[in-house]
Amino acid sequence: MPTCQTSPQIPPQYLREDELSEECKQWLLTLPKERGWLASHIYNYQGFWTSPRLIQGVIACQQQFQAQDSDIILVTTPKSGTTWLKALLFALINRLLHPIFEQNHPLLVKNPHDLVPFLELKLYIDGQVPNFLSFNTPRLLSTHLPFASLPKSVQDSRNKLVYLCRNPRDTFISLFHFTNSLRIENMGTNSIEEMLDLFCKGVSIYGPFWNHMLDYWKGSIEKPKKVLFLMYEEIKEQPKFQLKRLAEFLECPFSIEEENCGVVDEILRMCSFENLSHLEVNINGKLSSGEENKAFFHKGAVEDWKNYFNIEMSEKLDHIIEQKFQGSGLRF
Ligand code: A3P
Repeated sequence: MPTCQTSPQIPPQYLREDELSEECKQWLLTLPKERGWLASHIYNYQGFWTSPRLIQGVIACQQQFQAQDSDIILVTTPKSGTTWLKALLFALINRLLHPIFEQNHPLLVKNPHDLVPFLELKLYIDGQVPNFLSFNTPRLLSTHLPFASLPKSVQDSRNKLVYLCRNPRDTFISLFHFTNSLRIENMGTNSIEEMLDLFCKGVSIYGPFWNHMLDYWKGSIEKPKKVLFLMYEEIKEQPKFQLKRLAEFLECPFSIEEENCGVVDEILRMCSFENLSHLEVNINGKLSSGEENKAFFHKGAVEDWKNYFNIEMSEKLDHIIEQKFQGSGLRF
């Protein structure tokens, strides 16, 4: 069984429970809790599972965030390729401001999470009102929030939601590695069997994963101009087609000249796992929230789960996937 990466001494900002507000501490007393992936416990807030510090960010974001019609919000299940899609979106949306062939393109010197911030995990984490004055228009933002828990202004405005999900088997393996790499040393690491049990019970970060995916899937069918549903595997398989689809959805399609000049290919190359994971900033840099940038680049492969699951584990997750997605039109 492959081993985990070394654990950091200082947990990232969103795990520091000593900095919780009184309001949040009161909330926690009332919420169902389970064994945690990252911290000691994970709590169920509004029907999804999350860690204590994040609840504070979620409440602040839901109460205060004012969406604009021009906003573009990337929504993902954790470990489904958020970093990759943040890079693709940033390069795509800002290609006039930052031509992709530019020598000092922001993606060469900053991690995509610093260029496309999370709402509840970053901007609202301390309950503060973020300063949006420095943001370009359209604002490019991200969240892991389930559809039903999006701030009301997001649901009501005409902004665009780009949703990304991934085969739950690979998402699980990626989450298992990532969370073990971030657990503080004295908490030890989680075993794959224990975490699969929790995952299949729906107890994963922002889970149950099936509710997360199905709600956005339905949203994309009901409001195709508002929600675009993307899959990691489909982008891997047909990157050019999916990037052009994304550009059309965001109403900034590539021109014939751009295609002929290789802009589409260069965006894909710039945002590829091979390129991003080998940049100095992503090898040695850290996010302001404390994680090492390299934690977001593991293997970037499809079907890595086959290297970890035995038959019993595989059947267990197959069963849940079959049961939860049956009849939805979503297949994994
Ligand atoms: P693995 O752990 O399977 O390697 P997120 O960005 O949502 O945290 O997801 C992380 C997963 O996306 C990791 O998967 C990571 O390696 C992969 N990833 C990161 N950058 C990528 C890229 N540019 N292209 C494809 N996959 C990428």
